[in-house]
Amino acid sequence: MTINEIRTKYLEFFSSRGGSASGGKTRGHTIIPSAPLVPQNDPTTLFTGSGMQPLVPYLLGEPHPKGNRLVNSQKSFRAEDIEEVGDNRHTTFFEMLGNWSLGDYFKREQLPWFFEFLTSEIGLDPKNLYVTAFIGDEKNGVPKDTESAEIWKTLFESKGIDAKIVEIGPEADGYRLGMQGGRIFYYDAKKNWWSRAGVPENMPAGEPGGPDSEVFYDFGTPHDPQFGAECHPNCDCGRFLEIGNSVFMQYISSEGGSASGGKKVFKLLPKANVDFGGGLERIAAAAQDNPDVFAIDVFADVIGLLIHFSGKEYEDKRYQRSYRIVADHMRAATFMLADGVRPANTDRGYVLRRLIRRAAQHAQKLEIQNGEAADSMLVRCAVSFIEKYKQAYPELGSEEAYETITSEIWKEEKQFAHTLESGMKEFEKVAKAGHIASNDAFLLFTTYGFPFEMTLELAHERGIDVDEDGFAAAMKKHRELSRAGSEQKFKGGLADQSEKTTRLHTAHHLLLKALQIVLGPSIKQRGSNITQERLRIDFSYGAKMTPEQLQEVERIVNEKIQEGLPMIRSTLPKEEAEKLGAEHEFGAKYPDMVSVYSLGPKGATATDPQFDKAFSIEFCGGPHVGNTREIGEGGTFKIQKEEAVAAGIRRIKAVLTV
Ligand code: ALA
Repeated sequence: MTINEIRTKYLEFFSSRGGSASGGKTRGHTIIPSAPLVPQNDPTTLFTGSGMQPLVPYLLGEPHPKGNRLVNSQKSFRAEDIEEVGDNRHTTFFEMLGNWSLGDYFKREQLPWFFEFLTSEIGLDPKNLYVTAFIGDEKNGVPKDTESAEIWKTLFESKGIDAKIVEIGPEADGYRLGMQGGRIFYYDAKKNWWSRAGVPENMPAGEPGGPDSEVFYDFGTPHDPQFGAECHPNCDCGRFLEIGNSVFMQYISSEGGSASGGKKVFKLLPKANVDFGGGLERIAAAAQDNPDVFAIDVFADVIGLLIHFSGKEYEDKRYQRSYRIVADHMRAATFMLADGVRPANTDRGYVLRRLIRRAAQHAQKLEIQNGEAADSMLVRCAVSFIEKYKQAYPELGSEEAYETITSEIWKEEKQFAHTLESGMKEFEKVAKAGHIASNDAFLLFTTYGFPFEMTLELAHERGIDVDEDGFAAAMKKHRELSRAGSEQKFKGGLADQSEKTTRLHTAHHLLLKALQIVLGPSIKQRGSNITQERLRIDFSYGAKMTPEQLQEVERIVNEKIQEGLPMIRSTLPKEEAEKLGAEHEFGAKYPDMVSVYSLGPKGATATDPQFDKAFSIEFCGGPHVGNTREIGEGGTFKIQKEEAVAAGIRRIKAVLTV
């Protein structure tokens, strides 16, 4: 079954009005388009990474214009998986099949429907399916999900399978109980609780989440003890592959974390939702009963093309990883280009640049003779993906898209070749020393963009040594520093780095703190957007602010502007910054070293930031004014609007007026 067939089947299955085995309810979902890979109005991540992300306001209770049953296939990209690509299951780009109940149906419909879809529509043998449910969390008052387990038991029985329900115990125990002859497994929150922030303890106030139930496909491959003494559905050895997750999103975190001794206070959302996500590529792999996701149709064509030009065996372990990397990265690059991302040295553009350059390097490893322009191997790969996907994703189908995608890839390849050429010259120079010192390798990499693998290979050819450990240490330091500098990319929301925008950015820090003073310390930032004209902050709070509260917030901000507090940037280990109570944007991932901005007290300096007396501390990449007095040069701080954007989320727009 092809990707296109499975996607169509899924959308038809959930949108059809036909009756179903479960309680006589009809499915009748409305098909909604995939949101772009570049998130809209959501600064928490660089790329859309799951189907629910664009739907958060609706999961929180806002009515969706298309109703309360939705279905789609969402383009998703997870940059954190780039290094994982090369095994048989990881991809950076993937399609997430999703169906949602916005306060409509629940477990009794969702689980039977998904089971029916997998067994009747896709034709999976139910004997190969294993499922999980949430064991409960006494500490946080969330009960064991016996209902899901019982539903699954009945479903398996309907197929003549006697499904035993077992508890696998906590991860700390190494899951050493193993299979126990089970079919339905209870896991703890680490595996069977879903929120964007992960386990309950990590959820900031206002974040929705809930217990989930996953379905795994058993490929029947032997267990690899490297991954633990015993196999079980969540084992990473490769025998089981997760193909779908039904999240019963019925809770919202209202308080908690360190303030309440790690205990969470959950409230029920106004309406209980279903948030289902299933990896399309993985379902296709299960449909083929082949654990290699790169064997599915969309990749098979490209890999066939690469094999033709390379002449190397795909099964050859020396080359398999490269085949997969080229295929994965070029698919992701094709979709990104269609969504407006262009190669660059920052943000999304940097991710795209890395994808194309890494693909180019691995195509070289496959010893593919590259052609010019339209005959370039990477361009051919992109064209194959365009053909595969243009019907389902019309943004790939126009002549203009074709032109942009192919020309941008070729341009980037040429630029990379040029980089390699100047790097080669530099390499020859430093190699004269008879070995490659760590700082030379580092310079080659950072200044010339010359891949370290290349340095190693060339040195090897010449029989000279490379200080690999020294290079690794220099890189670690470099990465930490540059990541710390790029926090703001994750924080997002800054239109430019002009003086006006910068003033408002610092005012934004003052505002968040003032809100916490007036409304309470649990206020968390949930989004931000700053232009030269105004700042906008989204924050967690359950009620409309009173005129008095708004006035008090304004007063505090203006007072701090008048006081002339210094704004100081420091680079700290993440744990230290967290201990200081530095605010961080929810949902963002932070590196080991982070950049924080602390405001005040008077007299604080970069060498003596006096964190304990600071007015506010935030994880942030800047830019900021040096002193709050500079904000005053833009005028008086004024709140223009305070409004709801979703249940539990307020938005303030503010300006500097003269
Ligand atoms: N939102 C859930 C996930 O991403 C379905 O796994």
